[in-house]
Amino acid sequence: MVYKHAPIGVFDSGYGGLTVLKEIVKQLPAYDYLYLGDNARAPYGTRSFETVYEYTLQCVRQLFDMNCELVILACNTASAKALRTIQQKDLPLLAPNKRVLGVIRPTTEHIGKYTKTGHVGVLGTSGTIASNSYPIEIEKFYPEITVCQEACPMWVPIVENNEFESDGADYFIKKNLESLLAKDPEIDAIILGCTHYPLLIDKIKKYLPSHIALIAQGEIVADSLGDYLARHPELETKCSKNGQIDFYTTDSAENFDRQASMFFGETVKSRHLVL
Ligand code: DGL
Repeated sequence: MVYKHAPIGVFDSGYGGLTVLKEIVKQLPAYDYLYLGDNARAPYGTRSFETVYEYTLQCVRQLFDMNCELVILACNTASAKALRTIQQKDLPLLAPNKRVLGVIRPTTEHIGKYTKTGHVGVLGTSGTIASNSYPIEIEKFYPEITVCQEACPMWVPIVENNEFESDGADYFIKKNLESLLAKDPEIDAIILGCTHYPLLIDKIKKYLPSHIALIAQGEIVADSLGDYLARHPELETKCSKNGQIDFYTTDSAENFDRQASMFFGETVKSRHLVL
């Protein structure tokens, strides 16, 4: 389907990006949005660099073909493993006037205001953590901050399989948080570096001392997008504004709709898309 209007594309490997889209729509309701979840190939978190890049590029191309001028990779794994190459190598050839933005940079830009001790923790998929994207980006803005990371490979499967209220979820959340805090007990701010994790926030809080700030990305990314659009009127004027949201999934639309409302906070009616 090629749209006549120009929605803002929001992409994730699956459902997680809906937690970001929800905040973006809250802050910027006038724009049109097109959400694409590559559920058929999720999770991305344990896949190789090359595979995540290839899948992400394919989805970005698809969103461009559907008439998006701007695409947000609302997925840390894709932002960590594919964004830079797409921006630097593919965009100039593919669509020099279109833009692709990620979720890691906006989060790291603001991390300084959440920590007093200067010790920050990052929780993410194995891919995001192995890429070292968070420590590298935080170092650019705040060289004085110490960053400690923990890969949580079970958290996305727990969420995707609707087990986030189970005892199994408690087991893995407690285990990963204890491991992170054992590495650096001075941590006073933790980034939820995966867009799936806000669904686990109640359980995460249960196993953390109350003085530790938990940073989810939705609001930060929405703020940063508003700011970006204000600074780029040439792109902003191309983005259509009918307040329309369309959802697509590469897997079953029925399954997507059943799960998606938990992430998005309201009923979702999606369409199946063949890449
Ligand atoms: N939601 C994605 C992220 O923010 C990860 C999900 C996955 O492993 O596919 O990293």
